Amino acid sequence: MSTRADDSSSMLSNLSTENRRFEPPAALAAAANVKADAYVAADADRLAFWAEQAGRLDWETPFTEVLDWSNPPFAKWFVGGRLNASYNCVDRHVLAGNGDKVAFHFVGEPGDTRDITYAQLKDEVSRAANALTALGVVEGDLVAIYLPMIPEAVVAMLACARIGAVHTVVFGGFSAEALASRIEDCNAKVVVTSDGGYRRGAPFALKPAVDEAIAKLGSRSPVDHVLVVRRTGQAVAFNDATDTWWHDAVDSASPSHEPTAFDAEHPLYVMYSSGTTGKPKGILHTTGGYLVGTAYTHHAVFDLKPTDVYWCTADIGWVTGHSYIVYGPLANGATQVLYEGTPDSPHQGRWWEIIQRYGVTLFYTAPTAIRTFMKWGRSIPDGFDLSSLRILGSVGEPINPEAYVWYRSVIGGDRCPVVDTWWQTETGQMMISPLPGVTAGKPGSAMKALPGIGADVVDDAGVPVPNGSGGYLVLTQPWPAMLRTLWGDDERFVSTYWEKFPHGAGRGPWYFAGDGAKKDADGDLWLLGRVDDVMNVSGHRLSTTEIESALVSHPRVAEAAVVGASDETTGQAVCAYVILRQGSDSGSSAGEDLVQELRNHVAKEIGAIAKPRQILIVPELPKTRSGKIMRRLLRDVAENRAVGDTTTLSDSGIMDLITSGAAKST
Ligand code: WTA
Repeated sequence: MSTRADDSSSMLSNLSTENRRFEPPAALAAAANVKADAYVAADADRLAFWAEQAGRLDWETPFTEVLDWSNPPFAKWFVGGRLNASYNCVDRHVLAGNGDKVAFHFVGEPGDTRDITYAQLKDEVSRAANALTALGVVEGDLVAIYLPMIPEAVVAMLACARIGAVHTVVFGGFSAEALASRIEDCNAKVVVTSDGGYRRGAPFALKPAVDEAIAKLGSRSPVDHVLVVRRTGQAVAFNDATDTWWHDAVDSASPSHEPTAFDAEHPLYVMYSSGTTGKPKGILHTTGGYLVGTAYTHHAVFDLKPTDVYWCTADIGWVTGHSYIVYGPLANGATQVLYEGTPDSPHQGRWWEIIQRYGVTLFYTAPTAIRTFMKWGRSIPDGFDLSSLRILGSVGEPINPEAYVWYRSVIGGDRCPVVDTWWQTETGQMMISPLPGVTAGKPGSAMKALPGIGADVVDDAGVPVPNGSGGYLVLTQPWPAMLRTLWGDDERFVSTYWEKFPHGAGRGPWYFAGDGAKKDADGDLWLLGRVDDVMNVSGHRLSTTEIESALVSHPRVAEAAVVGASDETTGQAVCAYVILRQGSDSGSSAGEDLVQELRNHVAKEIGAIAKPRQILIVPELPKTRSGKIMRRLLRDVAENRAVGDTTTLSDSGIMDLITSGAAKST
């Protein structure tokens, strides 16, 4: 195992003392959408199982083959099938007589609200599809979406899908630099943005970052048009050659639009995610398999019923927003809450107030949020009526048993099952999770692979470990919503995920997830965090290398090493060690200002989420004799532990210098 996984050994022993169990509530179990026999059916014939799940969708042309895995790891699902994702998410519900059902209860941060029915959503998506077509967008074109959490974000995504354009949503918290690199990498022809959005009671701007990104790309900019939603009303610079107001282009467009069906493997979207190297990876998802995978898992794990009100608090800029706000729930015809803002604005009970107001029954959030609420204290949620809740979901990072139990008891009134769902941008759909009507949940465990999914924990040689042991999490079977490749980089796709455990007797390669995991005595799975140089800060994936490159791009920095140190609220926090260029003042007088400047520099290069919590200016970095930075030792310092074994260091005095510097800075 790598050094990262070694660090998890203390966590392993903590987890093994956890032996509470929560049985599914009897009534929920009796009426559950998915029962234990689903595992049996899927085990008996996995492809027949997924073919049956594909029946949840409307296909214009039926598929002729469930899976083509003749050229692994390049999978084709539902071969020959044709369908339109937007039709499946919107039109068919209207045609089935559910046009008046609310698709979204939108809650803006300033308190504005809008209910949007499926019929209204269909009209709006159709208008936007017509508007994009009028701007020259055709099948296969890339459209970047850089918006706050407003309904137009969903509408823009579905409008792209409707005309076969491929969207790439860039999280609104990312900087102009990050936006520019994504626009360039995927050659986006149109950018959909807004003047700004609201956060913590104040408007923030988005359009200037788009202008800056395009200016930065200069003659390399592929962008022909920028479509601008007016959200805040703040003044924006307008370039008449490229910029169009959404309300001019979309509101005047026709609300009728005939969707065309596309091949099941037609690209649906590219989502950039941090990898172990500096350059973000463009993860490609296609249409048929992705919709089947997200629709089925949403139906199964949230036990979605027609009367449910579902709320996923993720941002549309992340995969959770794509799979479990847009595609899965809308394919299932769900009624959802869509909330623009933060949990503490204007008060720390905002989320609970929303649950009470809309009678939310299914709630999906991240452990980092739960730990924040724990810190604020139970008296806040206790002030609201949360009795409508039925099922509580968690995603993004391991949920520690304390947070799980608090969530279940304080938010869920000890009656709601907690479903801890493990998956990734790459997997597209939930992979490992309890089923709320079947599983006796263990706090802190994602339990086992969902029906139709193959997961295991293996050692360095790729051999499954026995119960009670830890290793690398692998996925042993292709699955419908799996990524198909990395945009424009098949080679990196193969080497990142499929080469570590290439083959075994009579099977294809296993997918290497990059996570450590443990099987407990019953064979249930406990996720232990990343085994590579990817950090998880508040459920957001950040690459150590990407932040190091950002730091080194500052003129005063010679070298940088970044580690993720454990943090009570955010899971991990970014800690950076920086060596200044010769001639730069490394004395403590310049220290504080420079540290602030470097933090802001990282925010500018990547986005505020990547800002290091801590930057230490050091004279040297601990390196092995072969020149590899020993991040393990830097994590020891960042986590205020005694520094571990330094015998492989080229200069054993270095750690003394670094630790004394760290002691001074705190
Ligand atoms: C981590 C988010 C433990 C994991 C959907 C994974 C989790 C990475 C869980 C993917 C969970 C996500 N338990 N760890 N329930 N869910 N992770 O691509 O390290 O943003 O590899 O997808 O988050 O993050 P991503």
